[in-house]
Amino acid sequence: MARRLSVIGTGYLGATHAACMAELGYEVIGYDVDEAKIEMLRVGKVPFFEPGLPELLAKQIESGRLRFTTDITEVAEFGDVHFICVGTPQMKGSFAADLRYVYAAVDSLAPLLTREALVVGKSTVPSGTAAILAARIAKLAPGGDAVELAWNPEFLREGFAVKDTLRPERLVIGVESEHAEKVLREVWAPLTDLEIPLIVTDFATAELVKVAANSFLATKISFINAMAEICETTGADVVLLADALALDSRIGGRFLHAGLGFGGGCLPKDIRAFMARAEELGVDQAVAFLREIDAINQRRRARMVDLAREQVGGDFTGKRVGVLGAAFKPNSDDIRDSPALEVADTIHRDGGLVMLFDPEAMPNAKVRYPQLNYADSVIEACAGADVVLHLTEWREFRDLDPAVLSDVVASRHIVDGRNALDPKRWRDAGWTYRALGRP
Ligand code: UGA
Repeated sequence: MARRLSVIGTGYLGATHAACMAELGYEVIGYDVDEAKIEMLRVGKVPFFEPGLPELLAKQIESGRLRFTTDITEVAEFGDVHFICVGTPQMKGSFAADLRYVYAAVDSLAPLLTREALVVGKSTVPSGTAAILAARIAKLAPGGDAVELAWNPEFLREGFAVKDTLRPERLVIGVESEHAEKVLREVWAPLTDLEIPLIVTDFATAELVKVAANSFLATKISFINAMAEICETTGADVVLLADALALDSRIGGRFLHAGLGFGGGCLPKDIRAFMARAEELGVDQAVAFLREIDAINQRRRARMVDLAREQVGGDFTGKRVGVLGAAFKPNSDDIRDSPALEVADTIHRDGGLVMLFDPEAMPNAKVRYPQLNYADSVIEACAGADVVLHLTEWREFRDLDPAVLSDVVASRHIVDGRNALDPKRWRDAGWTYRALGRP
């Protein structure tokens, strides 16, 4: 049976998921409460920066398989399988995840489900959420037993969202019935036919796979950044250290890049939500190490500010600081918990005159940090600078010719927060090159 799919929530995850499911051949309807977002998507515009997604979206709208609505009744009538893709941000004033959007999605959809339907959670949620939602659906859905829940966590990375959705390394489905498993196996058949592994679990495991994966990745990054702290005292070089560690196939080199640490809408809030939930469950000791992972990550930002301050003679007052990067990582315009912007804002509050440039994230940065100054190019950001800070490793920054910048800065000092520039090249051009974890 050709199933019709709905995608509830059209942010980074949902918009990508909707376009990719249409690409796999399904008829898809995307839903959001945000009228402006839906208006954009309807005309084929992606409201955020994600390589490859605008082309895919336009293609699928054109094909007639993908459309968007703000009418939840239409969603309930159309879909056989409903993917919940709404955000679960960190709650204000607490480490816990804010589940209000997940509950709102289920509470608005479930009472309209009168026939067979499978609701599939993709959002990242604390352990136990799926069981609560299943009970809620059972209570609210007029379709009774014909309406079920499944959990299918998403592992896509921003910047690679389309590839990660169409060619994931694995699929995980948490189910409570053979029927739900059968439906999801059918939905994902185009990918399992390509030998992409699909692991079937219960709800609790499916929820935990996602949180455990992000905790492991955060741990790997903070581990190498902790080594960077040691390197700063012993004179060792963290980049060479990581190269050597990476050749041990048990360790591997991915997510072992030392620098300013992790940010974004996922890793930081996910490890915090995990700690909060573990405490509620009385198993906080098991993940107590995540507190240290978070602390190491925060210390890198402080260390970056200190290094920059040293370069301008110990005091930022009246000093010009050229900042390259605002996004939490390259190939994204996402500035949620961005290390680059936290560093820039701290320097601004310490009296520095920050001039920032980012190829994609400036519109978002300007809204969130109106107090900073924004340049239209790298050259403009660095004009008259007493120090230049490299904080997000966009290709454009990595490829910079130090000789070109030499002509515009006031002093040739660069601090590489991402260990992505070639120290020799910059030093040969007469620059003082400093980096996190390197002599
Ligand atoms: C992360 C996970 O990688 C995805 O698998 C997951 O699906 C997603 O969160 C999510 O929960 O939705 P994402 O936030 O897009 O994806 O970004 P990552 O590529 O994981 O990078 C996270 C942060 O770590 C960035 O700030 C990056 O600069 C930093 N990082 C990454 C390092 O500092 N060092 C590294 O070696 C790797």
